[in-house]
Amino acid sequence: MEIQWYPGHMAKAKRMMQEDVRLVDLVIEILDARLPLSSRNPDIDELGKNKQRLIILNKADLADEAVTAGWKKWFEANGCFAVTADARVRGNVRNSYQVIEKICREKTERDRKRGILNRPVRAMVAGIPNVGKSTWINSYVGRASAKTGNKPGVTKGKQWIRLGNNLELLDTPGILWPKFQDPEAGLKLALVGTINDDILEEQTLAVQLLRFLNRNYPGRVEERYGVGAGKTSAAANPEENDEHYRGEYQLLNEVAVSRGALKKGGEGDLSRAASLLLDDFRSGRLGRISLEKAPGSSE
Ligand code: G4P
Repeated sequence: MEIQWYPGHMAKAKRMMQEDVRLVDLVIEILDARLPLSSRNPDIDELGKNKQRLIILNKADLADEAVTAGWKKWFEANGCFAVTADARVRGNVRNSYQVIEKICREKTERDRKRGILNRPVRAMVAGIPNVGKSTWINSYVGRASAKTGNKPGVTKGKQWIRLGNNLELLDTPGILWPKFQDPEAGLKLALVGTINDDILEEQTLAVQLLRFLNRNYPGRVEERYGVGAGKTSAAANPEENDEHYRGEYQLLNEVAVSRGALKKGGEGDLSRAASLLLDDFRSGRLGRISLEKAPGSSE
């Protein structure tokens, strides 16, 4: 799903979210576990204030487990409930059931003390495109009831999915705009393929990824492609490499050659190599990789 975000669309998405959030007690925010801050909508704290907040660190199957554990703690320390998920696997959202049950029990208890009986907890799912909102709702609800491909600005009657006695879930997730104002976040979102960045073409992304891997996950490129052994120059000498990405381009060329992605004259086809490297990264074939760590975490 591709959404073009313009100021008008963002304002509309915000208005819809403000409308919907008024109806709910709990906001279930879906983030990409590989980049929880960068995949967070910049206005979500303001939009979700005074509501219970549950963070789903989704696509945890692709992220570094230790780093994800650091994020879970960080969100919990910041007043949110937090769970990890691979939303594609139904059994995997079970840990969310337990937390949501707990949130519901607390709310029902508070209501009871105020003399309100039998009012279910109302919840909505929200997040930027492509983080797995629809997949998570489908797995959680247990049937294909969530519609995919909703665009911001399409007005519809509100539909609720009743789950047990004490929970109602808004069936359409709130689609929020990503953090493209922050270039660092934009780069990470483009790396995982959440946003299609026209400015950053694949080769640029690929060399950035190679540099990141060299510094943070040394050995992964060699393991996968059998090239680049001992190529840690980027980490050893960051200043030189900040000016040029010569080392990374060379490495990309080696990836091309190792995969037989060659141009007519026999030299490496960097464009194809970039594509396959990004594809391998996005689908987890380079192993579990997180692009950002929780503030203050050693992991
Ligand atoms: P959205 O509603 O937030 O826009 O996201 P959606 O559920 O459509 O999911 C976007 C893509 O992310 C889908 O892949 C989906 O399968 C994948 N996905 C969702 N949750 C997870 C997860 O926990 N782990 C992994 N590895 N992937 C996840 P797609 O390629 O767009 O479609 P398809 O391959 O499912 O057909």
